[in-house]
Amino acid sequence: MKLPYAEPYKIKATEAIRTSTREEREQWLKEAHYNLFNLRSEQVTIDLLTDSGTGSMSDKQWAAVMCGDESYAGASSYFRLKETIQRIFGMPYFLPTHQGRAAENVIFSALLKAGDIVPGNSHFDTTKGHIEFRKCHAIDCTIDAAADTQLEIPFKGEMDLDKLEKVFQSYPKEQIPCTVLTITNNTAGGQPVSMRNIRETAELCRRYEIPLLIDSARFAENAYFIKTREEGYADKSIKEIVAEIYSYADIMTISAKKDGVVNMGGFVAMRDADLLRRATSFCIMNEGFVTYGGMSGRDMDALAVGLDENTEYEQLHARIHQVQLLGELLDEYGIPYQRPAGGHAIFLDAKKILPNLPKEQYVAQTLSCELYLEAGIRGTEIGTLLADRDPETRENRYPKLELLRLAIPRRVYTDNHIRVIAAACRNIFERRDEITSGYRITFEAPILRHFTVELEKL
Ligand code: F0G
Repeated sequence: MKLPYAEPYKIKATEAIRTSTREEREQWLKEAHYNLFNLRSEQVTIDLLTDSGTGSMSDKQWAAVMCGDESYAGASSYFRLKETIQRIFGMPYFLPTHQGRAAENVIFSALLKAGDIVPGNSHFDTTKGHIEFRKCHAIDCTIDAAADTQLEIPFKGEMDLDKLEKVFQSYPKEQIPCTVLTITNNTAGGQPVSMRNIRETAELCRRYEIPLLIDSARFAENAYFIKTREEGYADKSIKEIVAEIYSYADIMTISAKKDGVVNMGGFVAMRDADLLRRATSFCIMNEGFVTYGGMSGRDMDALAVGLDENTEYEQLHARIHQVQLLGELLDEYGIPYQRPAGGHAIFLDAKKILPNLPKEQYVAQTLSCELYLEAGIRGTEIGTLLADRDPETRENRYPKLELLRLAIPRRVYTDNHIRVIAAACRNIFERRDEITSGYRITFEAPILRHFTVELEKL
């Protein structure tokens, strides 16, 4: 008999999960104004709000924590992280930041001026926020196929090169300080970008003399998909693939809370010494001195180990196997989601699951509340609440897709938890015809409203 697949690690510490009754959850959700961000974590049974900062560190990472050097300047932890970044990404310069959006803040402060244009493949919301906050414009050049949730193609997060070239032709290069390529494409469902598309995007950028910035939150998962799906890469190691990806980049920002498998941290790295000099002032002002930026020495050490460990095939395979397991169970039950399963999450297609709900009643948010009530599972709305209002007209920006993201933290839940999630989705799917009304907003902030929005049941 062929032995079944098992994770390449065993568990050394556990954390108790609290369960609850449906009545308790109804009360808590009401008190949270139907915004799952307002729940206390102990009111949640399985937390799929994000895979960011929620992973479980290895024993070697915890051991590295004890080796952290907290010197204000010249800490040895900094040099260990620097050596790792140079070795894995080939980037000569870097500035540590407290998380991904802080890296965006530092580099965009140095790069952007009002009126600039920043094209990309579905900018993440904080990236877009940092661009729009500076009175610049983020132009989405993602391939159209990304919006068709049922289309099964291997690299569904790619940049549409024709769209990108049109942007380059429409504005002078002085007005386009960089192109942002996000791997994997979180907004499109954790969908990867092929090496070919990365290379061709870089070539196009080079032809128009525009720097390429790779938003690298899930770079290792992207490399896994290149290895397993793209011709010519099956025999290459993840580290070799990562080295090739970054040979095409001029700048990288990273939220290390994802594929770095740490609870906090990030950095911006680059090849250009002059850009480093300009960005340094913003790092010192907003984050901290250059040899720690926004991170403790111990966090830099844990990250150095995390980057090395998570660019190994077995680790990535275990993780993506788990996301794919959830996808397979949903397939069995006929529940529609963004296909194929992404790297870090399953994105349920809320519009297809709740077709009778009007878009004005927040379809994906309604599904997220249903899943919480059903089994204490917390996902994230990627729909109208997140899309927010148009900054000029203040009208709701109804997105093409209403998705509920179920992000799987790294090395935290077992396959049994995955089966509970799938069963809860199935129960909702079976009574979908009974769900005919959604929610109405009673309070919202002028920017990034989804974090603090308050709703009431219709
Ligand atoms: N870029 C991408 C692609 C991201 O997914 C995120 C964060 C960031 C940048 C910002 O990084 O949170 O460390 O400041 N994504 C998290 C998520 C929040 O849940 O997907 P950060």
